[in-house]
Amino acid sequence: MTHRVLVIPGDGIGAEIMPHVVRVLESLGLPFAFDYADLGGHAIDKHGTPLPPETLTAARAADAVLLGAVGGPQWDDLPMDQRPEKGLLGMRSGLDLFANLRPALLFEPLADASSLKTELVADLDILIVRELTGGIYFGEPRGVTVDNGGRRGFNTYVYQEREIERIARVAFDLAEKRNGRLTSVDKANVLEVTQLWRDVVREVHADYPGVQLDHLYVDNAAMQLVRQPKQFDVVVTGNMFGDILSDVAAMLTGSLGMLPSASLNAANQGLYEPVHGSAPDIAGKNIANPLATVLSAAMMLRYSLDEAAQADRLEVAVKAVLDDGVRTADIMPAASTTGMRRVGTDEMAAAVIAALA
Ligand code: IPM
Ligand code: MG
Repeated sequence: MTHRVLVIPGDGIGAEIMPHVVRVLESLGLPFAFDYADLGGHAIDKHGTPLPPETLTAARAADAVLLGAVGGPQWDDLPMDQRPEKGLLGMRSGLDLFANLRPALLFEPLADASSLKTELVADLDILIVRELTGGIYFGEPRGVTVDNGGRRGFNTYVYQEREIERIARVAFDLAEKRNGRLTSVDKANVLEVTQLWRDVVREVHADYPGVQLDHLYVDNAAMQLVRQPKQFDVVVTGNMFGDILSDVAAMLTGSLGMLPSASLNAANQGLYEPVHGSAPDIAGKNIANPLATVLSAAMMLRYSLDEAAQADRLEVAVKAVLDDGVRTADIMPAASTTGMRRVGTDEMAAAVIAALA
């Protein structure tokens, strides 16, 4: 059973980190077949489009896609539909990757890296489940027109009942396997589409009596996330609210360089990528933290490749490396550095490989 993985290094630190992570995967001794494709800024330069059709074809044929990151300032002034981000959005919709899993997990040795007080975030373990192929990101009509001499910009916030139902089921399933609590986030006091969201989530709840469900308005959810983050277990929400709240949750852990994500379709095919971006300002300097991509690879093993034991093994290796005091610059504490060793991208990956052995 060969695991066919499409590797998309992408732009900035994504391209820099990916060869190291592929080496980490190879050291697991599994039957991988790696294929490579272009996406984002790099694809614009090479093929004139952020999502070449052959990339989508290769992704459909793979068991999973491992992505570095896309984007950079040199492509920011292109028209909206030609920007690197469009490549990513096209992959999400082209593969129907509707379920985006964004864990915000605080690694114990990094507790003082959070901007919140240590006791508020110690052992934090939240999972944000974000709907990824609908909502205002994809709703039609959209655009900017000129009316009565003035410009008018508009987007459409729309969800079909079945889109809400399928993401709710993913979230309930995950809550069942975790601590049995699910918070659904909406703006049902103002937006009809999210009143439907709330109603459908409540209906699906009937099939999950073991899960405790509550509902929060998005403004309150944002506040609660920074006030008392440990009250949350699994959070389910729509595309745009999930975009925003997952950045808040990421920052709670104080280490954006550590956070993985998974985007899955109904067949458990998935796209796995670190939450951090392409960070062009630090690219090529051998200082980027490869661990978010390593942990994304662990999610890939668990959710798309049916290799849960290997996923655990990889996560244990990452913890061991942190416990040993190995640190890239972004997770090096400002104050006490006793017992810590500052390393580059390459040495961090090598330390993970050594811990696996
Ligand atoms: C994310 C990013 C993307 C999004 C951008 C790059 C299109 O912010 O994955 O959270 O908004 O979904
Ligand atoms: Mg985002």
